[in-house]
Amino acid sequence: MYIFSIFASLLLALCSVVAADDAVTDGRIKVFLFAQPAFFSQVQVDAQNDTCVSLRNNLIDGRVQSLLVGGQNVTAVLKRMDYWWCVFYDNYSCAGSEDTMLVYPDGMNNLASIDWQAKIHGLRCTNQ
Ligand SMILES: *[C@@H]1O[C@H](CO)[C@@H](O)[C@H](O)[C@H]1NC(C)=O
Ligand SMILES: *[C@@H]1O[C@H](CO)[C@@H](O)[C@H](O)[C@H]1NC(C)=O
Ligand SMILES: *[C@@H]1O[C@H](CO)[C@@H](O)[C@H](O)[C@H]1NC(C)=O
Repeated sequence: MYIFSIFASLLLALCSVVAADDAVTDGRIKVFLFAQPAFFSQVQVDAQNDTCVSLRNNLIDGRVQSLLVGGQNVTAVLKRMDYWWCVFYDNYSCAGSEDTMLVYPDGMNNLASIDWQAKIHGLRCTNQ
């Protein structure tokens, strides 16, 4: 019993440390956007649950080449154990039909390969 409670509080302590500088919380996720050349120009945006983030006043607007959801490198993203996913739009107000949006739970390495290298203007992430 005693040992268990020490273990439990240790676990709790570890978890809160991780949460403190983690890219993912219940209400917000960090999305990492990269311009060409990949990983040279990196911008991170905070996305609140189910809220549109416009890139209108962001330097990276229209220059996103690759993106990662919830971590700044592939290793960190692959370790994610949450239910966040993001939709990226060719529109500042996150409006669009299916052919003007991209849905990713994790990331995309080369937007040019699907002809989206200059198109991302807004994003909305949802935790559910
Ligand atoms: C990946 O990102 C995590 C979290 O930011 C960091 O701790 C780790 O060192 C990074 N790994 C590499 C290979 O950059
Ligand atoms: C975004 O969508 C809204 C609503 O459909 C539209 O009025 C606006 O012109 C669009 N903006 C861009 C930049 O596509
Ligand atoms: C995030 O927003 C979605 C849609 O509004 C909602 O269904 C979900 O419960 C929310 N998640 C959290 C953790 O609040």
